[in-house]
Amino acid sequence: MSLNKTPLKQKTESSSADFYLNNGYGTVLVPQNNIFFSEVNISEIEATAPYTVYEENGNIRSCYGIHLVNTYNNWKAILLEAEKFIKEILKDDIYIHQSKINYKESIPTAVWPWHRDFPFWKNYDNIPVSKMINVIVFLDNVYENSGPVQVIPGSHKHFFEEELAQAKAEFNELSGSVSSDLDFELPLTKVKSLASANGIFSLCGAIGDISLFHPDVIHQSSPGTDDNKRRLMIITYNACSNRPVNPSVRPQYFASSDYTPI
Ligand code: SIN
Ligand code: MN
Repeated sequence: MSLNKTPLKQKTESSSADFYLNNGYGTVLVPQNNIFFSEVNISEIEATAPYTVYEENGNIRSCYGIHLVNTYNNWKAILLEAEKFIKEILKDDIYIHQSKINYKESIPTAVWPWHRDFPFWKNYDNIPVSKMINVIVFLDNVYENSGPVQVIPGSHKHFFEEELAQAKAEFNELSGSVSSDLDFELPLTKVKSLASANGIFSLCGAIGDISLFHPDVIHQSSPGTDDNKRRLMIITYNACSNRPVNPSVRPQYFASSDYTPI
């Protein structure tokens, strides 16, 4: 199966704080730096990441805790613009709560079912409110059929009855945070009906582009194609005023306790 290689361009219309706050996703306009990306050594990060998750076919699904390894220092510069924008949106200082590279295979288990991210951070990491932002840095050109992250615009303001009624969930095992059998998966019929009202938007981008998505926005991703490469660096920032009220039940590489402002 060949990829739909529609030319990718940065999305100026989605690059304002208002757009992000209304839609739950957005873009950070950055100069494309292909030289940087051709020089950056992803295999070094893969080799040293504190925690790696594999797909059934033996290929990598995710590397967690990448901001904790030395080579990450070579990457920091590409995030400066995004970090400035996030501080403006959150009106606060920020620190890194979680970091990872997510990959995408073409096999059926290479999915992330419909979910929001904040329930993990609230229930397991004890973070009070969703004053957080996810940044995606595209490490490959990501097209509509690469298995992009897909969001339902505006869903960060819409919660289902069963979610509002939910008591605090106990942590069971780490696989529920990282696999296709994901904790906090949302009811499909309700998601589908919200998606038919609000639409679905795919976070596609060219190598070096940067997207943002809200911790409460409903999102998923499907398997990619046979010749897929879809590596996304995803960094989750938390506002410094929103530190966990208790230590996380998950390891450091899922929930950092280094609250040093960036
Ligand atoms: C993905 O990498 O496709 C999903 C990322 C996420 O659910 O946060
Ligand atoms: Mn997610």
